[in-house]
Amino acid sequence: MKFKTIIEPFRIKTVEPIRQTTDAQRAAAIRAAHYNVFQLDAEDVLIDLLTDSGTGAMSVYQWAGMMKGDESYAGGRSFHAFVKSVKEITGFQNVIPTHQGRAAEHILSGAMLKPGSIVPNNTHFDTTRANVEHRGAVALNLPIAEGREPQTIHPFKGNMDVAALERVLRDNAGNVPLVMTTVTNNSEGGQPVSMENIRRTSALCRTHGVPFFIDACRFAENAWFIKTREPGYAGKSPLEIAQEMFGLADGCTMSAKKDGMANIGGFLAMNDDALALTCSNSLILTEGFPTYGGLAGYDLEAIAVGLYEALDPDYLQYRIRSVEYIAEKMIAAGIPIVRPAGGHALYLDARSWLPHIPPHQYPGWALSVALYVEGGIRACEIGSVMFGQQPDGSERAADLELVRLAFPRRVYTQSHMDYVAEVLLHVNTIAKDIRGVRIVEQPAVLRHFTAKFELLPR
Ligand code: F0G
Repeated sequence: MKFKTIIEPFRIKTVEPIRQTTDAQRAAAIRAAHYNVFQLDAEDVLIDLLTDSGTGAMSVYQWAGMMKGDESYAGGRSFHAFVKSVKEITGFQNVIPTHQGRAAEHILSGAMLKPGSIVPNNTHFDTTRANVEHRGAVALNLPIAEGREPQTIHPFKGNMDVAALERVLRDNAGNVPLVMTTVTNNSEGGQPVSMENIRRTSALCRTHGVPFFIDACRFAENAWFIKTREPGYAGKSPLEIAQEMFGLADGCTMSAKKDGMANIGGFLAMNDDALALTCSNSLILTEGFPTYGGLAGYDLEAIAVGLYEALDPDYLQYRIRSVEYIAEKMIAAGIPIVRPAGGHALYLDARSWLPHIPPHQYPGWALSVALYVEGGIRACEIGSVMFGQQPDGSERAADLELVRLAFPRRVYTQSHMDYVAEVLLHVNTIAKDIRGVRIVEQPAVLRHFTAKFELLPR
């Protein structure tokens, strides 16, 4: 390349204003939200990094596709466009549209699991775990040891511990109906999984006759990491790498709200015709007819185009670089983060950053409040508030106290990133003054969405 500046590979045609607020306005807003950023109005947020799911900007080609959307109940043109893209990229023979990723997980779990079944995964995402457990099955996480160590550098920290998987398959023969790998590994910091690891997982599953599915939400970002980090892949395109990855599996679940570049949608795809029939029948019950699966025809068009846009090398280079760019600024300032940078998000290590706040005063939560109050940034705690509540009502500290800054696709520019970095550097100067929080009211499950908090006295 002649020039080294990596630019946003798009120009902006439609803009959505964001609103500056004063310190006093934000203090009032967070107080009214009971110190829970999920309860804020989005209008009161300047930079919204709560999730990268469904929050991306669509391209002119996606919007043009939406205008062509065929809203026929059955056999619509848009369904065929959607199936064509999914089949070209994944190679799977049967494609079932769903309204989002968790609907695909729900249908697959219903078709494959029974009480007591064991489902190994490098790391289950929350909804995957919940869907497995909803069937009375066991969601078993088997990440490599490095995946649980925020400061350890490893090129493929999202990998499955294949030796552990082999033991599980051997010791539980007949009781493992499905093995999954999540790319990239969201719950471990957006870390990639290598082709070699996927190949070894696939080979083990084939030896033991167990179907192997990929949770493919961020398949394109994973393909980029393979291209840039794994020997032998530099000369391959992200599309070729994705095809090779899917070729090692028997099926996938997908949230098109991530690397489908759409605001809503997902799918379930697989080679097994009999399993696909069972899944299609259950789809009719909850999602809709098999040629739209809970989506409008125009959504199917947006996904058909978006899946390819996610694989564009210029886009992927800009995408992965933006997270790395802000991570470098954190490392230079000594702010503890999960390293190396993930694909879709920066993960702050709140336990190390705020050692004066013990786990039962929720350091990650306190940090998410401070990021909003100081700079109008909304991020998400992944720590003891999210994971600490046990089914019997007791409380247990989470392994890690993280705060995730997830970046919506094609939404924010480098100056937004510079702003976020500046706010984080400022927060670093007042870190010692950040106060812990106390829960004053909480629901019985998934408390982080609605719990009410109070700031503890200094
Ligand atoms: N699998 C992974 C790895 C995910 O990250 C998500 C969603 C899902 C499945 C479920 O997909 O939301 O379309 O039903 N992750 C979002 C997030 C919510 O913020 O990380 P969905």
